[in-house]
Amino acid sequence: MAVRVGVIGLGFMGQTHLDAYARLGDAVEVVAIADQDQDRLGGKQQAAGNIEGANAGGFDYSKPKKYTDGNDLVSDPDIDAVDICLPTPAHVPFGLKSIEAGKHLLLEKPIARTYADAMKLVEAAEATDKVVMPAMCMRFWPGWTWLKKAVDEQAYGKVLGASFRRVSPHPKGPFYASGDASGGAALDLHLHDADFIQHLFGMPRSVSSVGYSSKTNAVDHISTHYGYEQVPLVRAEGSWAMADGFGFRMSYTVNFENATAMFDSSDEQPLTLSQNDEKKPVELEAGMGYDHEIAYFVDCIANSRQPERVTMRQAAESVRLVEAEVKSVADGGAVVLG
Ligand SMILES: NC(=O)c1ccc[n+]([C@@H]2O[C@H](COP(=O)([O-])OP(=O)(O)OC[C@H]3O[C@@H](n4cnc5c(N)ncnc54)[C@H](O)[C@@H]3O)[C@@H](O)[C@H]2O)c1
Repeated sequence: MAVRVGVIGLGFMGQTHLDAYARLGDAVEVVAIADQDQDRLGGKQQAAGNIEGANAGGFDYSKPKKYTDGNDLVSDPDIDAVDICLPTPAHVPFGLKSIEAGKHLLLEKPIARTYADAMKLVEAAEATDKVVMPAMCMRFWPGWTWLKKAVDEQAYGKVLGASFRRVSPHPKGPFYASGDASGGAALDLHLHDADFIQHLFGMPRSVSSVGYSSKTNAVDHISTHYGYEQVPLVRAEGSWAMADGFGFRMSYTVNFENATAMFDSSDEQPLTLSQNDEKKPVELEAGMGYDHEIAYFVDCIANSRQPERVTMRQAAESVRLVEAEVKSVADGGAVVLG
């Protein structure tokens, strides 16, 4: 029987998830959608976002039940799983309500605006036998899953240096205009790389960051060095302070003992591997990270297994990591993580 999903919040991310469910086929059925905006609910308003093609259309809006109040979707007995794509401040109240209602839950990142709030969700998630998964999508993007495997298997030796970069103009809309709501680029965008760094190397012992606010009252451009015993150089830069028209760009360069891997989303052949005096393109698994993430969530529910590729506790740790980075920007020195 298909897993019956309800999606709350139909902006760029909600629309992206709806399209991914539609591509997944019979394993899942979106039986209800909720948004306070009638145009979004009717599929009339396409949301702007940073990944081209992510919400290109393909979902049939005529079929599911429609709610203007997300609470009504959460209490709908016909729903097995709730997928929350609301602005960040709504993640904790709607997330807790969904867990209390006995639903499986996919929760967009960052799971909460603060680490203290994120831990409320971790406690609730660890007390239920339902699948509760944070949507840390980079752990599912083909260029990044390739990297995780190469690092874990030491396919090209140990990592000597790893640099990540994720930059764009300031996203539009009232949620992104508010640093209090979104947490600025540090929490909203750069979190992706902080989380992936945690995924690759565990939590660092310290962070040392510089940055500035320009679009909101939060940190909108940040650059961090992460302190590890086992890797000499790990750093990441995240920004939504680029000029309009610059576009979105995510990239990494990872220098192994025996090869250098380079990914750039703006290149036609995004991943290359240089070794033995040659630079070669690397073929990647097809599909976007969102497709793989949603297929994994549905598979966990169908097979009654807890997510291992990403946990709520790890997602909370990534919020803690970014909070330490923001503190380092404010204080002007390294911050040691306990
Ligand atoms: N994983 C990723 O790559 C990624 C990318 C973009 C955004 N996000 C995250 O997804 C979340 C949503 O971002 P977005 O860009 O889709 O935002 P958005 O502003 O485009 O969309 C939010 C939608 O929620 C609706 N909404 C707001 N409050 C509501 C409420 N109380 N009840 C019902 N509907 C309500 C709005 O009408 C809007 O349609 C954010 O937490 C963001 O950080 C993740």
